[in-house]
Amino acid sequence: KRVGVLLGGLSSEREVSLRSGAAVAKALRGLGYDVVEIDVGRDLPARLVAEKVEVAFIALHGRYGEDGCVQGLLECMFIPYTGSGVMASSLGMDKVFAKQVFIAHGIPTPPYRSFTSRDAALAAVDSLPFSLPVVVKPSREGSSVGVHLCKTREAYLAAVEDVSQRAGSILVEQFIKGREVQGGVLDDQALGVIEVVAAREFYDYEAKYKSGGTTQYLFPAPLPPEQYARVNEVCLGAHRALGCSGGSRSDVILTPSGDVFLLETNTLPGMTESSLLPKIAAGNGIDFPSLCERLLQGASV
Ligand code: DAL
Ligand code: MG
Repeated sequence: KRVGVLLGGLSSEREVSLRSGAAVAKALRGLGYDVVEIDVGRDLPARLVAEKVEVAFIALHGRYGEDGCVQGLLECMFIPYTGSGVMASSLGMDKVFAKQVFIAHGIPTPPYRSFTSRDAALAAVDSLPFSLPVVVKPSREGSSVGVHLCKTREAYLAAVEDVSQRAGSILVEQFIKGREVQGGVLDDQALGVIEVVAAREFYDYEAKYKSGGTTQYLFPAPLPPEQYARVNEVCLGAHRALGCSGGSRSDVILTPSGDVFLLETNTLPGMTESSLLPKIAAGNGIDFPSLCERLLQGASV
């Protein structure tokens, strides 16, 4: 079957997606698949037809790619695609809607307020139900784009100004200090937990893609067994609560007292060879080409 690897796209994570897609295409070609790379733009339906794509590997991140839009288009064209369906993708992309689902399922996530307007978020500066520091985030971005850790009133106001320019609503979360760990799920199975030790205040865009080796990754995360199991459980619970398929990677904070807080679930996690779901899979004996093949084999409409 002819595989279309969808990459690039129109979101702020375009550069990351170009890297994910190139790695996936290379791996699938290495396994003998007939692969065409399609940089997603406005003419996507025409390209899919012209290239005779029979199955789509979605290597997009962010808006239009991770939020259910491309998934819906592929559904309408009866082209099977990898990963989560329309609903799980839309829910996963919006951190506020996802948090509501997590809370309904008893999955712990940091206390938050959300605002649909800049003015409402600015007006709330002195009446937030938790104290500074807080994290201000756009509800529909990835790769920490537009995420601000705010320690002062002024920083909060500036963060709101920035975030209000971006897609979705304005999410204000209590900052939970702790270790940053991430759990991978593949085909409804928890694959384990990796710890991220960033040399910055949190694992931001810089630490993710530009740190030049200063960010350390520890797999399996060196945690007491019951905490390790708890993170696995929370990540699998989140995957199921959103109704995800294929692979997902959830971001978690583990406090010094052992409490676990789920920040978010990524329905299209980074897929460069050094990305974290691939690292977690490799720790389970699933090398990068095998991971790509597993995801491809799970493609459906
Ligand atoms: N949003 C990026 C690609 C990730 O979660 O890996
Ligand atoms: Mg994300």
